[in-house]
Amino acid sequence: MKEWINKINEADSLEVLEDIRVAVLGKKGVFNAEFSKMKTVPNEEKAQFAKDLNIFKGQFASTLNFKKTELQTLALEQKLKEEKIDVSMFSKKAENGSLHPVMQTMDRIVEYFESMNFSVKTGPMIEDDFHNFEALNLPKYHPARDMQDTFYFADEKLLRTHTSPVQIRTMLKEKPPIRMIAPGAVFRRDLDLTHTPMFHQVEGLVVDDKDKVSFANLKYILEDFLKESFGDVDVRFRPSFFPFTEPSAEVDISCIFCKGDGCRVCSHTGWLEVLGCGIVDPNVFEAVGYKDVSGYAFGLGVERFAMLIHHIGDLRSLFEGDVRLLEQFQ
Ligand code: PHE
Repeated sequence: MKEWINKINEADSLEVLEDIRVAVLGKKGVFNAEFSKMKTVPNEEKAQFAKDLNIFKGQFASTLNFKKTELQTLALEQKLKEEKIDVSMFSKKAENGSLHPVMQTMDRIVEYFESMNFSVKTGPMIEDDFHNFEALNLPKYHPARDMQDTFYFADEKLLRTHTSPVQIRTMLKEKPPIRMIAPGAVFRRDLDLTHTPMFHQVEGLVVDDKDKVSFANLKYILEDFLKESFGDVDVRFRPSFFPFTEPSAEVDISCIFCKGDGCRVCSHTGWLEVLGCGIVDPNVFEAVGYKDVSGYAFGLGVERFAMLIHHIGDLRSLFEGDVRLLEQFQ
């Protein structure tokens, strides 16, 4: 029996200790086996036999408890050692998100026009024919509708092809004078190196009394804006056509890559087209019920600005979500 007490002292884990406890005190353990010998012990020795057994039981229990506490303490110490956190260790760097380069460019453009006292207006991306075309002097079957390959829904609704419908909505709601820009996403059925089905525009509109708005005002603000955006570039206005403006112009800047000498980006012309603009066509004012006013409007593609400002060659790379590209714009 004594050897069981030695076994306790040799135990090196709580599991081994528990095995010993069961082997001794369990139903079929050595203690019960020893106790059952009582009947064979002569009567005069019974008292001593029982006493010895009880002494053993007491010793066994207290040694076991002592050992148990010791092993538990050891186990706890071991656990604490393993789970220790080294607060001085280098941690994995947390990645910060940032605005997409197109949004950064849009913010810059919006900021410029806000500083020039333009207010920012928004409108729905799902539009109707009236706001996207009709009111902008683009009646049904007008050939200029082909300039804007449109996504149509079954119920005569469409995805806006430009943010000009926001100008119509604003003029229908508010009285002149108007001085607004409309930044936002627009949609066209187009996909190649320089076109994506969704892209962003900022359009501007100024409406006021007839003697207060001229092509000279338009030219001044766009030149100032382009120099602010691209630095010291030459700016030229080239006659063009838009259904909602007359006269209309496209605006070029001298190529920021070759400084006008001619390179691949500017197709060896020395010029980069960046804007469309013009004096608002009287038919547009008629559609919204404006009388005796004059106005100018302009529109630009934000992705094109972002590509030129950041020297990005393929428009599609702006939409791939590749972090290696995006993390350069933090
Ligand atoms: N709405 C035109 C487009 O998307 C851009 C534009 C706006 C041109 C205003 C002239 C005046 O192509």
